[in-house]
Amino acid sequence: MEKYAIKGGTPLHGEVEIGGAKNAALAILAAAVMTDEPVIIDNMPDVRDTNVLMQAMESIGVKIEHLGRHTIKLDSSNLKDSVIDDEYMKKIRASYYMIGALLGKCGRAEVPLPGGCNIGIRAIDQHLKGFRALGAVVRIEHGSIVAEADCLHGNHIFMDKVSVGATINVMMAACMSSGKTIIENVAKEPHVVDLANFLNSMGANIKGAGTDVIRIQGVSRLHGTEYTIIPDQIEAGTFMMAAAATKGDVLVKNVIPKHLECITAKLVEIGCRVIEYDDAVRVSASGVLNTTQVKTLPYPGFPTDMQPQMTVLLGTASGTSIVTESIFDNRFKYVDELARMGGCIKVEGNTAIITGVEKYSGATITAPDLRAGAALVIAGLVAEGETIIDDIKYVERGYEDFEKKLQGLGANMIKVTSDHDLNMFRLKVVM
Ligand code: EPZ
Repeated sequence: MEKYAIKGGTPLHGEVEIGGAKNAALAILAAAVMTDEPVIIDNMPDVRDTNVLMQAMESIGVKIEHLGRHTIKLDSSNLKDSVIDDEYMKKIRASYYMIGALLGKCGRAEVPLPGGCNIGIRAIDQHLKGFRALGAVVRIEHGSIVAEADCLHGNHIFMDKVSVGATINVMMAACMSSGKTIIENVAKEPHVVDLANFLNSMGANIKGAGTDVIRIQGVSRLHGTEYTIIPDQIEAGTFMMAAAATKGDVLVKNVIPKHLECITAKLVEIGCRVIEYDDAVRVSASGVLNTTQVKTLPYPGFPTDMQPQMTVLLGTASGTSIVTESIFDNRFKYVDELARMGGCIKVEGNTAIITGVEKYSGATITAPDLRAGAALVIAGLVAEGETIIDDIKYVERGYEDFEKKLQGLGANMIKVTSDHDLNMFRLKVVM
């Protein structure tokens, strides 16, 4: 079992390059099957989630050629099936994006129901509502979602809840439906906009992505394209938090500062210095940070995917802070792990009451999910002594070369796969 071994106490200094946005890449990969012409995608993050989705796509006949570590060429002209195998759904949720893409392209999709997850119930009723509004017959059969339509038609759809996944899935199905579709109360995340831009580069007619209303004029076919994925807002935010927590000074490069505004605002509010450049942000901090209140909201509000990292950061601030999780109903599981490091956080329902402590102390802990795992790495970077983090497969779902990038900033951290690695790490640290 791979683990991270971290010796805390070193402020991070230097520059780090942010990769392509995982949550844009997953949607764009699925959408790429909607044309029979070649599609070239650049800035594709090399993370577990995207690699598993590509395996799922190859299982139904999509040809994927790796032109470089972050550049792929896809050929979906010989799809042999519209049924995604259960093994892929168990590994990642985003396989369900194949429903919208296959329904839009070939009028049929069969995908296993995505598993529950460790951050709360993640329903799909809004996805199904959208597909049905477009004329699809959707049924749950033997644990799978089966969606079929002789001919999808446009409609006026009002989402009952702001959902990134449902917005993305319905947008894909609608872009090849006949007629006009209006989708209201949609998600406005950067990755929703990136998918709309990708589909438009293939000849779709989508307007309003990034606003509350998306308007789509269906087209009969989509053509090939070459597209570059936007930088990852959450990876960037994670490194910004790591710089602040370790009282370091880090230039986070290849970002879109506009996407980070809410994170930047909170860091400045608690006493960090943030300098914005065209495609980079510089984060530095010194001394004890101030407290604040945070509530996670759909974009442009504070991202739920940054909630664990912010809570860890506030865990060593000077006083009591409040973090409220309004998107998911069970996203504080990591608090128990943080308590093993001396964190003093009380969770009441969907609110964490954080009493700042002087410092965390190193411990052996387990990553409960992707973003919480990254947050616990940040705790280990500031903790006194050694922290061992198990189950890092979660972190590798969404962060490419996480330990290498942190090492490049001076972190005393390695990925260990054996007791020998761990003993060598401990010897090196002592010497
Ligand atoms: C996407 O998940 C992201 N995943 C999540 O990032 C992110 O936390 C989330 O959006 C919110 O920003 C990907 O993009 C692959 P939602 P998604 O549908 O689409 C409820 C990460 O760390 N809901 O916006 O599943 C749902 O239960 C991951 O990269 C319904 O009730 O999120 C949740 O409470 C973690 N019915 C809320 O809406 C539905 O049909 C938001 O979910 C759909 C959702």
